[in-house]
Amino acid sequence: MPPNPFRTRPRSQNNWVIDTVAQKIIIDTDPGIDDALAILFALAHPDLELIGLTTVYGNVPVSLATDNALRLVELADVDVPVAAGAAKPLCISPRGHADFVHGADGFGNSNLPASARQAVAPHAAQFIVEQIRAAPDAVTLVPVGPLTNIALALQLAPDICEKTRVVLMGGAVHEPGNCSPVAEANIWQDPHAAEAVFAANWHVTMVGLDATHKVTLDQGFFTGLAERSPRLGGFLNQIHQFYLDFYATRYGDRVCAAHDALAVAAVLRPDLLTFESGAIQVAVDGIAEGQTLFAKPGQFDHKAEWQGRPEHRAALNADCEGVKALLQDALSTLD
Ligand code: RIB
Ligand code: CA
Repeated sequence: MPPNPFRTRPRSQNNWVIDTVAQKIIIDTDPGIDDALAILFALAHPDLELIGLTTVYGNVPVSLATDNALRLVELADVDVPVAAGAAKPLCISPRGHADFVHGADGFGNSNLPASARQAVAPHAAQFIVEQIRAAPDAVTLVPVGPLTNIALALQLAPDICEKTRVVLMGGAVHEPGNCSPVAEANIWQDPHAAEAVFAANWHVTMVGLDATHKVTLDQGFFTGLAERSPRLGGFLNQIHQFYLDFYATRYGDRVCAAHDALAVAAVLRPDLLTFESGAIQVAVDGIAEGQTLFAKPGQFDHKAEWQGRPEHRAALNADCEGVKALLQDALSTLD
């Protein structure tokens, strides 16, 4: 087995790295094919330190999300703890899982062998609180599934807002939804949890469909990954076949959106995205349930329901070629 690239990689010399210490991140995930790309990308990039994966229902049931997260850390041969989380939304009835997008096994029906590894004992919400409180400096939470674990962590320990920022994949400002005309999947799965996240007094970066639909990956991208990184790139190429076929059937073009990887890219290279600052609220019921509503600073402060809302930022565009190059550079270091 060649030396583990995740352990021996040189620190990045890019001058856009804000400091010399890798940014600590926790990815909250429902793997999920695009989640797998995001997680291997985060593990491969020298300027990130993935201190944990927390799992949540969404693309698949949480038990399978946990098994898949364990499969990923075992494939990558890294000692990253995996903590299992919520099995259902805070209030609404469970919506079901996107097996038509990610396959029944969440990895394009690739039927990978089970991992020999075990999840850690704490629930994901408790794990998030413990890791943030123990970290000597700030931690970035990168939720790329329904936000139930994040809302539960806030209920457990509101103080985490002081040491944490959130960079999440979810929502949409001007772009139509993918689970209703206005709702994106991660928000739609648990609108109450999402509203709690956007109402809390921390800084949230929302990487929604306005930006993720601008970063599309075709077969050539994955073929190239497999050529440069036969084992892990080959795995990503294998599991993305089902995902590319879904996009071809649903949208008529065999290219897929790098939804979750763009949230990780936004942590590393925010200059590759275009943001607008403002308040974000979530419709929690009715026909628009799961819609993320965006208001520019002060735009609706004369209305009670918008007064006092914390200011976040939403990604409205992304540099597709720049993000693809960032992904390729990092993932090409894998074996
Ligand atoms: O809408 C896209 C999001 O829903 C992505 O996180 C994808 O993995 C699914 O969870
Ligand atoms: Ca996801």
